[in-house]
Formats: sequence, structure tokens, C-alpha cells
Amino acid sequence: MELKDVIIKRRTIRDFSDKPINQEIIKKALRDGLKAPSYNHLKQWDFILVKDHNIRMDLTQTEKMTEEITDGLRLAFANHEALAQEMYLDAIPKQKRMILTAPELLVIIYKPKTQIIESKRVYDLNCLASVWCCIENILLSLAEEDIFGVTFIPQNTSAIKEVFNIPQELEIAAIIPFGYKAPDAKIIPQQEIALESRLHINNW
Ligand SMILES: Cc1cc2nc3c(=O)[nH]c(=O)nc-3n(C[C@H](O)[C@H](O)[C@H](O)COP(=O)(O)O)c2cc1C
Repeated sequence: MELKDVIIKRRTIRDFSDKPINQEIIKKALRDGLKAPSYNHLKQWDFILVKDHNIRMDLTQTEKMTEEITDGLRLAFANHEALAQEMYLDAIPKQKRMILTAPELLVIIYKPKTQIIESKRVYDLNCLASVWCCIENILLSLAEEDIFGVTFIPQNTSAIKEVFNIPQELEIAAIIPFGYKAPDAKIIPQQEIALESRLHINNW
């Protein structure tokens, strides 16, 4: 498949079929992740594949997860643009379910250059920028195989580090539930951006 087609094909999916995934496809995607650029040339990224359901349960206990659309939730996003609102109202109630039931769950870990809380300049966040290059490579590699994921960003990363015994000096970038699409998987239309409205030559 051509790169341009894979880029278009990759979408965020939160509703998965039960179809199992060949572990070699996952390993290839992680190897593709490890081909991404990194700020210090060292690719200081690790992956945990979570196979144990009890560990998934522990993950969902690390923060409050809303499982339905409440009036409060609608109100919280009432002033967002329509597409963003549609995305949040679809996504938020699915967070717990996708962590518990996606065929595969991947935790992406990176070594921070500066602890996030102490970061003062964009430069200090190069570690985070780099791990997201890795994440995009993984998502594209999976999309090529008709496998899709969603990058869930946990709020209580210290609790999650305890769940997995992750060394204190490392950090969690994202947790990615992934699998084949459910037949009725919701896909929110992408925001269409005309390049001309965003491309500036020489000056803003
Ligand atoms: C940095 C980042 C954080 C995100 N966090 C979450 C998240 O916590 N939960 C979730 O369901 N989706 C999350 N997403 C997925 C976005 O909602 C999704 O990428 C966006 O709606 C665009 O849809 P697309 O990926 O299909 O183009 C995140 C995406 C990015 C890039």
C-alpha cells in the first residue's frame, strides 16, 4: 500500500471487533515505531503490551471514567465547535470500555529529558515530541494492516507507573487500545483544512 493511502486510512477508532491480531503485525508496527526520529538520537521508548484483564481493570481504577453522556458532559462541551463536541461526546463515555475490551492494549513509555512538571521551554519537551513521532509510525503501520487504535492519555500517570512497576524516572506518553474496526465503529469526520488557509510564505 502506498504511504499516501495509509496516511488517509489511519483514523482514530474506539469500537473494536473481537478478531484477534497476529502478534507479528504488532511487532512490525513497534519496529516501525522505533524508526521514528528522536531528539537525542537514542529513541528512549519502551512498550508494554497488556494481556492480563486484571491489569486492565487496575488501569481503569486510576482515574474517574465517565461511562455515559450526562447533561454535565454536554454542558462542559457546549461551547466547543460542532465537530470537536461530537468527538468528545462520542469519546469520553468509551474510554473505560475501550481499555477493558480492545483486542490489544499498548502502553508507550519514554524517558523524559526534563520532568514535565519542571519543563520551562518547548526545548524541554523534545522527549515528548519524539515519542509522538514513534506513536504515529506505529498507528500508520497498523493502519496499513486494517488495524486501528486510539491514543488515550492517562491523567494519573504515577498510579499507572505503580500498576506496571515502571521506573520512576520514566514517563507514560499514551495508552493505545487497538484492534480491527467493529462493523458499526463510529468514525468522526475529520476537520477539513484548506492548506491555503494555513500556509504562510515568509511572514504570518
Ligand atoms: C495528543 C493526543 C491526545 C489524544 N487523547 C485522546 C484521549 O485521551 N482519548 C481519546 O479517546 N482520544 C484521544 N485522542 C484522539 C483524538 O481524539 C483524535 O486523534 C482526533 O479526534 C482526530 O481523529 P483522527 O485521529 O481519526 O483523525 C488524542 C489524540 C492526540 C493526538
